[in-house]
Amino acid sequence: MEALRIIQDEHQSLAAILHAVRYMLKEIGAGRLEPDFKLLQAMVHYLDAYPEKRHHPKEDEFLFALLKEKTDEGAAAIAHLEQEHAAGEARIRALDEAVKRYAAGEDEGYARFVEAFDQFAEFYRNHMMMEEREVLPLCRKHFTEADWARIAEGFRANNDPMTGIRDGEDFKGIFSRLVAAAPPPIGLGAGPYRDD
Ligand SMILES: [Fe+2]
Ligand SMILES: [Fe+2]
Repeated sequence: MEALRIIQDEHQSLAAILHAVRYMLKEIGAGRLEPDFKLLQAMVHYLDAYPEKRHHPKEDEFLFALLKEKTDEGAAAIAHLEQEHAAGEARIRALDEAVKRYAAGEDEGYARFVEAFDQFAEFYRNHMMMEEREVLPLCRKHFTEADWARIAEGFRANNDPMTGIRDGEDFKGIFSRLVAAAPPPIGLGAGPYRDD
């Protein structure tokens, strides 16, 4: 069941990033931190490249598809989650437009980006909770050892770029910079964020 651990680890990494960004935005709003637009744009790009383009497809292909073959249990939840996966492009577009406007210095740029980010984070919180509460337990219940072995193989071909540099992009660097900016227990705490 290594695959379940991987999915849950990825959920935790994503939750940590969302938490870190929310904290950064609060600090910016309070005037204690200068916005780092490069980092915010890198964060949006990361959210597109990893959760949207790698994590969800892995769930669709290896977990949801097999579960649907085996049982009708959880069918409504799976259909709902699949629809949410399919809407990833629009979700990222909204965030990307908001961060670009903010970076371009538009009026209300900060407030609009905060609003777009909060919507995105809220969506993910609910999405991940539904997966963990309604679908992963069914995988545990219905999949055999042979299923898990096959899934693990598929997962290995699609590992977390947060653990290294991939496609020429330093996702690990983005991740650690975001998380370092967050308060304990996740990050190192406040203090001025330095872009070096
Ligand atoms: Fe998902
Ligand atoms: Fe997920």
